Amino acid sequence: MSIKIIGTGSALPEKKVTNDDLAELVETSDQWIRERTGIGSRHISTGETVARLSAAACERALADAGCAAEEVDLLLVATCSPESGVPCVACQVQGIIGASKAVAFDLNAACSGFLFALHTAWAYMETGIYRKALIVGAEVLSKLVDWTDRGTCILFGDGAGAVLAEHSGHNDVFRFVQHSDGSRGGSLTCDTRRLKNPYVEIPLQSPWIQMDGREIFAFAVRRVPECIEEALAQAGMTADDVDMFVLLHQANYRIIESIAKRLKQDVKKFPVNLERVGNMSSATIPVLLDELKRAGRLKDGMSVVMSGFGAGLTWGACVMKW
Ligand code: COA
Repeated sequence: MSIKIIGTGSALPEKKVTNDDLAELVETSDQWIRERTGIGSRHISTGETVARLSAAACERALADAGCAAEEVDLLLVATCSPESGVPCVACQVQGIIGASKAVAFDLNAACSGFLFALHTAWAYMETGIYRKALIVGAEVLSKLVDWTDRGTCILFGDGAGAVLAEHSGHNDVFRFVQHSDGSRGGSLTCDTRRLKNPYVEIPLQSPWIQMDGREIFAFAVRRVPECIEEALAQAGMTADDVDMFVLLHQANYRIIESIAKRLKQDVKKFPVNLERVGNMSSATIPVLLDELKRAGRLKDGMSVVMSGFGAGLTWGACVMKW
């Protein structure tokens, strides 16, 4: 038994912000950002919420598969930037799209969130608990970014991507590897609320994303190829057998190049969209999947690897037949 992705969808905020636009806010340049990251522009919310973007992505994924919202049993949203603590984004999305039968909840594993949510949905379906699931990665990181910090504000973008997966009788290759290392969590942080009650008031460290870029870079180029090889070994495959690596880390093209090199693969096998959308954390993989599917680049039977890494620290990889 396995699961099959039968529909994809994505949604980006309308407003596009170029590197030149950012150069008006902080001391940077289009040249610096392109050379160090590969990013040219990103979409930034001017009111679109995580729930609204998620709902739009879900509706497109359902339309793509020709499936009604009422058929969905499970609705998972991976996000680290919800507008509210409760209700969770997944319940808001359920209400908007009318997925009345679904059980809905959120999951936060930062940039690895979509993969961890896909794995969770896979486990539910593999054990026969649910048959049809919407899995979403969605972020409005622009509300967590310090717009005076040139080291981080140039990297991130807002958006949402969704896939509709269903239980399938085929024995497709579907292997997951997941890892977490909380002892290194300090290299990428963002506080939300301070503790303030009648008995204590603890000041907030910072409500904005704080990142040790070099530490994350070094972690990514080492751990991602390792975990991709681990997942491939479980599937009885090698990197040469893979048609396409849908790498999460659309944060930096240099990271992608370095991972391709470590895996001894042509970088052409690693599609990128970071030039147009930046790093959208958990939304990156499903948005890229949707773009590739709509462009006709994902063909039935292709061997695909997805991999993500981010705050936590968390990282993981998935091997599947498209
Ligand atoms: N424009 C111009 N100069 C900038 C800049 C910007 N936007 N951001 C940083 N700089 C400067 C720094 O101040 C520093 O100047 P100094 O040498 O005078 O101190 C210099 O550029 C080099 O900074 P450094 O941080 O070493 O650059 P880098 O080559 O490591 O690139 C990142 C920075 C953030 C692009 C890179 O480290 C990275 O992509 N890391 C991974 C981040 C990531 O993946 N995050 C998401 C995880 S979910």
